[in-house]
Amino acid sequence: MYIDTHCHLLDEKINDIENILIKARELNVQKFITCATDLNSSIDAVKFADSHDGVYASIGLYPEYAQQYNDQFESEIAKLAQNKKVVAIGEIGLDYSLLDCDREKQKEIFTRQLNLANDLKKPIVIHCREAYGDLITLLKSHRNLLKWGGTCHCFTASKEIASEILKLDLQISANGVSTFKNAEKVRNMLKTLPLSRILLETDSPYLAPHPFRSQINTPCFIPIIAHSLADILGVSPEEIEVATTTNARRLFNI
Ligand code: NI
Repeated sequence: MYIDTHCHLLDEKINDIENILIKARELNVQKFITCATDLNSSIDAVKFADSHDGVYASIGLYPEYAQQYNDQFESEIAKLAQNKKVVAIGEIGLDYSLLDCDREKQKEIFTRQLNLANDLKKPIVIHCREAYGDLITLLKSHRNLLKWGGTCHCFTASKEIASEILKLDLQISANGVSTFKNAEKVRNMLKTLPLSRILLETDSPYLAPHPFRSQINTPCFIPIIAHSLADILGVSPEEIEVATTTNARRLFNI
């Protein structure tokens, strides 16, 4: 059994989600964590997870929307997190690739959500783009808030940064980028990771793996990502399946 630990099942680019879930299960992808980016998508994710076996929700505020964070948002998320299908807080983090981004505001809101996740005893799902220096510094200084664990989703940074993430006892999520022809650096980084620290994700509907790169991504592509990872690490696809599923079940308690 595979688990897609990061997808956006309710994204408007994905049509006919019920059939996609049936097809994914036929391909041995049995559990799905659908990730939210703001309050409305958090509410929708919890509703969807609550009405679908094997679907779980990760809720929180994406760095791009940091200005939307306030006490009311926080208490709404805390209320939603009482639902047993909510397994993480995310995606949260830092994104400096955005034009006009307020870095200080992003750091403040990320820190508030680290506190929230810790209060709620939930792992975190981190989104980070062009901000790993600040991310590592911030996480190191809030190590006490990381005891429920977490993962760096869509991780495509260097092996040096990967090693810093591992030192913080966080997981690293591999997705379809590792299958891209020009992603030699990503493959070299993945080779340095122990099997006990890798999760699988699609980040559907984005980043479909090669040779489907131009298509809408869905959880049905998880086995392709797993087979590619097996080739990269020089292990069998079964070992990837067992290791990543064990890691995901332990981290998200599913
Ligand atoms: Ni995402």
